[in-house]
Amino acid sequence: MINHEAAVRVARPHLRVVSPDKVDDDSELGQFIPLHYHFQMLADRSRMAPFEAAIAHAVTPGARVLELGAGTGVLSFFAARSGASRVWSVERLPHLAKAARGFLARNGVADRVEVVNADAFEYLPPEPVDVVICEMLHTAMLREKQSQVIAQFKRRYAARFGPKMPRFVPEATVLAVQAVQQAYEFHGYHAEVPMFLPDAAAQGTVGLAPHAIYGSWFYDDAIPLRFAHDAVVVADARGELNALRFATRNLVAVLPREGRSIDWDMHHLVMPLPRALTVAPGDRVRVRFHYDVGDSLLALADSLDVSRV
Ligand SMILES: C[S@@+](CC[C@H](N)C(=O)[O-])C[C@H]1O[C@@H](n2cnc3c(N)ncnc32)[C@H](O)[C@@H]1O
Repeated sequence: MINHEAAVRVARPHLRVVSPDKVDDDSELGQFIPLHYHFQMLADRSRMAPFEAAIAHAVTPGARVLELGAGTGVLSFFAARSGASRVWSVERLPHLAKAARGFLARNGVADRVEVVNADAFEYLPPEPVDVVICEMLHTAMLREKQSQVIAQFKRRYAARFGPKMPRFVPEATVLAVQAVQQAYEFHGYHAEVPMFLPDAAAQGTVGLAPHAIYGSWFYDDAIPLRFAHDAVVVADARGELNALRFATRNLVAVLPREGRSIDWDMHHLVMPLPRALTVAPGDRVRVRFHYDVGDSLLALADSLDVSRV
């Protein structure tokens, strides 16, 4: 029999070892994202447009910028195009760092953007920076390591450069959950699978209760590393409560003078429940779940508990 843990350690020494019954692509995609997945991110207008606008706003001419998790380097390019005098762009995957160097040169900003092949958990720039860009975000803060990376960066940065923090892009994140009825029919086949949906209404999702916010923070303030939600909601529609919808809004830049923010609403995650409840308006339902940031979808799925009060 193959020793799974030993095989993972040899083939992928940088990955944490997961037990065989928890194996999914989290160990790959949850943290490091190879080049062949970057097209989806580059082509996602709902992600790119707010980052482009927010970076144009946050990065002023002459600014020094650090990007954690460079990928193809596109956000560092936006920073350079906004006039940054110096950008350190950190990427852990060697092939991606190499690709980013090529793309940044091709786009005419290689003289100001230095791609560093390093671990964002360890790297510090050689001098203080004005802005830190970090997009290691995943719906509900699952899988990717944004929160841990920034929390850790802040400690190391303060120890080296003092308490004044750079501006973070994104600046804040808000998480919400909603009890829903989800259709799971696929060409006549019923399969209750987790879904990432850009437009919930169009995909057979019916809200059965109001959204409840279960997490919100600014990255320059205390960042939660664990969520434990336990709340009662009152149904406002009739239906089969068979899933929870997780919504994630990133405030990529907050513009207080204009009284608005530049937001990125990520795809909703609709997680099926082990048992459905039939609900009617006025019914009280207790919704419970807990997970650590960066956990797998399986960890969230295991913790879901929805019951009638
Ligand atoms: C969601 S992608 C974003 C890429 C790029 N910034 C963009 O917006 O298109 C996150 C990137 O962070 C990199 N990454 C993840 N963990 C990292 C770490 N600990 N150190 C450095 N890079 C990391 C991944 O390999 C991936 O390229």
